[in-house]
Amino acid sequence: MSALKVIPGPASRELGLKVAEKLGVEAVKMEYKLFPDGESYVRFDSSVEGETVAIVQSTYPPQDKHLMELCLIADTAKDLGAKRVIAVVPYLAYARQDKRFLPGEAISIRTVGRLLRASGVDKLITVDAHSDEALKALNMEAVNVSAIDTLARYMADEKGLRGAFALAPDRGALELAERASRTLGDGFGWLQKERSRITGEVKVEEKTLDVSGRTVIIFDDMISTGGTVIAALEVLKKQGASRVYAACTHPLLVRDALKRILASGCDGVIGTDSVPSPVSVVSIAGLLARELRNEF
Ligand code: R5P
Repeated sequence: MSALKVIPGPASRELGLKVAEKLGVEAVKMEYKLFPDGESYVRFDSSVEGETVAIVQSTYPPQDKHLMELCLIADTAKDLGAKRVIAVVPYLAYARQDKRFLPGEAISIRTVGRLLRASGVDKLITVDAHSDEALKALNMEAVNVSAIDTLARYMADEKGLRGAFALAPDRGALELAERASRTLGDGFGWLQKERSRITGEVKVEEKTLDVSGRTVIIFDDMISTGGTVIAALEVLKKQGASRVYAACTHPLLVRDALKRILASGCDGVIGTDSVPSPVSVVSIAGLLARELRNEF
């Protein structure tokens, strides 16, 4: 198989360049701009003819803009003769809408899959996808890699938190907390969460956990409004946890989420560069490069 070329998308330029550097491959020169009315413009400034290309483009907010940019790049790559197009989408937008929760709803991730396939994407690589259902609904070759070990190692080695208790704020994150606990080494647990489908309000059921006097790290795939972390924090503080941190792969941190989480008594929030933010201190470039090596 020939070497591949990396296309750093406008949403993940730095991450894309890091991935290309780690792989020792060319980063395709691109020109991106916005027209005055907000439409996206994409131009390839080096050839991709006959190549396998990996487009690194996370689809954090504004999701629709980042998705459209991804489609423009993929479609143009194929049009310019690329042999195979891999979309590396660390944060996969719309994955939470992976089923019809209420009658008549869009199954949004399925539509995203259709758009990507129609744009010539042959394979998708994502990080800590929200659910297996979401990946299946894409209806294409899709690989999910996890940043949780990398995050847990950072918490253990750089933050000195080896021995912390790993907590999943809901059942969906249980696998992540269990995985993190293998690095942190001192147990894991989970809470039962309910979110109103109408108001979005989060409620976490009281549950006795062995956290009194201990340091706890809440692990989740993403932090969006912060509602989930804040609700879990309340339970943990009531049960006497001494310090509580929150770690996630995708720190979306919409609006004032970070401020509100810290004001609720959280000792620190850590995320990856899947989504650029003030807390994106852990890089997933190595993880993505390792996965892409399979394409050589
Ligand atoms: C939901 O199941 C996810 O895993 C996260 O827990 C959730 O999306 C976080 O959102 P928020 O920060 O708005 O509570």
